[in-house]
Order: sequence, then C-alpha cells, then structure tokens
Amino acid sequence: MTFAGNIATAAFTGGALRYYVATGSPAQVVERYTELTGRSPLPPRWALGYHQSRWGYRTEEAVRETARLFQTFDLPLSAIHLDIDVQVGYRAFTIDPERFPKLGEFTQELAAYGVRFITILNPGIKYSRKSKLFLEGRMLEAFCKLPNRELAIAPVWCGWSVFPDFTDPAVRQWWSRQYEFMLDLGVAGFWHDMNEPAAFIAWGDRSLPRVTRHKLEGRCGDHREAHNVYGLLQAQAGYESLSQYRPNQRPFIVSRSGWAGLQRYAWTWTGDIECTWECMHQTIPTVLGLGLSGIPYSGSDIGGFQGNPSAELYLRWFQMATFMPFYRSHCSNNVEYRTPWTYGEPYLSIMREFLQLRYRLMPYFYTLAWEATQKGYPFVRPLFWYNADDSALWSVDDAFYLGDALLVCPVLEAGARSRLAVIPKGRWYSFWDDAILKGPAQVELHAPLEQMPLLVKAGSILPMTADEYLILHLYAPLEGAGKGCIYNDAGDGYGEWRLDQFSDSALSRGFRVTVGAAG
Ligand code: GLC
Repeated sequence: MTFAGNIATAAFTGGALRYYVATGSPAQVVERYTELTGRSPLPPRWALGYHQSRWGYRTEEAVRETARLFQTFDLPLSAIHLDIDVQVGYRAFTIDPERFPKLGEFTQELAAYGVRFITILNPGIKYSRKSKLFLEGRMLEAFCKLPNRELAIAPVWCGWSVFPDFTDPAVRQWWSRQYEFMLDLGVAGFWHDMNEPAAFIAWGDRSLPRVTRHKLEGRCGDHREAHNVYGLLQAQAGYESLSQYRPNQRPFIVSRSGWAGLQRYAWTWTGDIECTWECMHQTIPTVLGLGLSGIPYSGSDIGGFQGNPSAELYLRWFQMATFMPFYRSHCSNNVEYRTPWTYGEPYLSIMREFLQLRYRLMPYFYTLAWEATQKGYPFVRPLFWYNADDSALWSVDDAFYLGDALLVCPVLEAGARSRLAVIPKGRWYSFWDDAILKGPAQVELHAPLEQMPLLVKAGSILPMTADEYLILHLYAPLEGAGKGCIYNDAGDGYGEWRLDQFSDSALSRGFRVTVGAAG
C-alpha cells in the first residue's frame, strides 16, 4: 500500500482484498479496528513493571547477581529475560542444565525477590536426527516444505533449521505442548524471537523462500501469504499453551514479529535498534504507530540494542521508557553491561527515582491495561488523539500522551536541559511542581538531567501508590468537569475486580468530587 496525497494505492498479486472503513475520532477508529482484529487481554500486573535483559546472562549466578544488585541498589525489578546463550546450542525449548542445574528452585528463589524468569524461544528447530523435537515434528509433518516436498531448511542461531508451519492448527497444537515442562519449572513467560521467520542468508528475502508451502488452516498456499501471519500464529500457539496449561495465570509473551491481531496474544518491541539519539526519537512514532494499529503493548530496548550509549543517552531513554508499556533494557552480546548502576552517580539515583515512579504509577498503568481490554486504546497516544481538529498536532512525533492524563515530552538531544514542546489546548500542570501552563502553545520546558518534562491535564485524577496507600492526585479542572477511574483486581488470574470511577467539577469555591464503584 502506498500513500500519495489523498490517494492510497494497494498493489497485490493475487487473492482478495477486503476494505473495512471506519470513521470518527482516532479513539473511535481504534475502537472499531480492535473490534475487528481483537483486543489485548489483561496482562499480569507484574509485566507492567521493569524488565532487565541483555544478551549475555549465561549462568544462574549471573542472573542471581543481577537480581541481588537490583535489591542492593533499591531498584524495583519485575522480570529478567534470558537470551539464547542460556540454551544448549541455541536450540528451542532448552535451558542448559549445567549452567542452570536447579531451574525449578532457582525460579522460586527469584520469585521470592519478586522477579520472574522469562526465556527466549526461536521458531527454528535444529535440523538434526539427534534432536528429539526435530524427529517428532518430522514424523508429524509439522515442518514447512518446498514445492518438491523437501523440507525448507535455512541457517539460524542453532545452525541448519527447519520451521514449524504455524498456519496448521495441528502444528500449533503440537508446538503449544512443548512449553509445559518449562512452565512446570516456573518459567513465567516467553520471548518469541526471530519469528518473521528470520534466516541468516545473504541474498534475497532473509526468510523462508516465497514458494515454501503452508497449510493455511487447510486452504494451502505459499509463503507469500503465510509470511505476515507466521509470528502471529506462533504467538497464538504460545498463548493457548500458557492459558490452557496454567489456567489461573495470565500469559505473558513478547513477540518480535506479528500482524493485525497480535495484541490478542503478545506484546512486542521495536527490534535491534542502534544506540543513538535518532533511534531513541524514532521509538516514539513507532510505538505510536503500533498503538494506532491495535497493539497497545510495546517498547524499545532501553539505550538501544547495538552499540554503547553514553550515560546521558541511557538516562534520557530510561526516562522516556518509564512511560511506555513495555519497560525493558536489553542489548547485544558484544556491548558493555547496561544497568541503572553502570554509570554511577548521579545517573543511578535519577534512574531509581524514575523506576520508583513507574511503580507508584501502577494503578494508572493497570487501569490503562483494563481500558485496552474494553476499547482497544493504546497506552501511548499521539497528540492528535484528543484534538484531531488541530492540524498542528498531527505531525508531533517527539511527545506522546500516556492515557488521558499525562503528556510526556522526552528529551531527545545530547546536552539539552530544556526542550520545546507543543501543548494542546487546555490547562496543564507540570507533574514535578504543579506549575500551570496554558495551551495551545509552544513552550520551552525546563529539563534538568533529573527531570523529563511531564505534564498533567487539568481535570485528571491520577491514582498513585505511596507505601501501602493509594493516593488520588487531583489536578483541578479549569472549568467543566474532569474524570478518572481505577481498575483493580488480584493482579493475576481471573478473579474478582473492582472499578472506581471519579468525576470532579469546579465550583465557584472549591471542587466537587463524585465517586462511584462497580464490580
Ligand atoms: C535478535 C533479537 C535480539 C536478541 C538476539 C539474540 O537479534 O532481536 O533481541 O538479543 O537475537 O537472541
């Protein structure tokens, strides 16, 4: 599909193309679109916390040490992601028992710190008669074949590999059973990677050949049709596995690849990006675009994947990511370690503040998660979301809303201690000192290293926690009324829930706050 001016041109080589047209405000369009493609289920609440990852945590001791240091430095942490180097020969559904000798006990030990163990999973299966998974899949005819009936084989991390045909329901069923022993060992979630599927070939499309045959739910076809849904259907298999085998826990899956509807099964991230200010900036329109495409849960590798960010870049990226749904640091295996304490002070203390702020904002994040289940709205929204008639907001790609209360203005330049921001109409409060700003306007906002400009819309009721208390921060409406709500439940499972709804209105002297509860 290409767009030129007001004309969109779709070019396709076969099959049928069906258009669905939705009109209305951005929120209405996303609501309709996700009615069609599906909405995200509630994730477990811990998934909205911070995730630490790197390609390079090879041993139980390295993971333990990381979890311990997060505690020592008083940094909240919800999950650690393990990359391919914990596997045996980079093979799917393996974790090296020599380096993780008591995985079941270890996941419990981490859980005592409040840390979940997430492991990577690539779709390619080692093409080897010594691989039980290969033999099993071969007998079940689970792998993709070429038109000459030979297996489609391509090199990936574990060497020559074959690829399950996730477009076949029987193959999804087979694949979904493979997760079970890891779930028994306490693995909390899975990170589906390389599932375009990616292949290490130097020529043409770095995926399966287009002629590769696929079942396509019984219709049969080739990879041109299957390519885009490959990762989506792997996510479906994973999601069904986790929800059926562990029915009282909500699945957590992150998938690199996806397609319309991925939100029903998985989160995603922006892939292997470089450690540059430009890439950090690009994260904003990418996450916005994913959200407008129905995928509310995404984020980027904090600091970028490839390269070594300066302390300042890492910090600014960390600050921005604090307000994005998938909050994870990750990096390649040939770069320096990257944690909040890597850069010393004042960076460590500032990152601690932001991490703690993220956890204090959990009632707000969790309520947005609930809203996504109801309406399909993304957490991260473009500035035109609420004021589509203001064309000055259409091209803003350096700021975003988090929900309807917060306007996030990341600092995207080295050395900057202030930044210019476009502010939509209405009254705004600075989150940091409650200073009042009026929009529409372009304002230079103060941005010392320890703060990132963050504004709150007048009328918002921002729920936050402080120790064991729930604090409602009321941002007085200028006129008319404001509102807010809090969704809450046990944080996992499918038990009871409660929804508190608040509205506030300005009186001639003071305010009236009305409270209603459901559930
Ligand atoms: C891919 C992933 C990256 C991961 C690496 C090694 O490049 O995108 O996140 O660290 O593979 O598994």
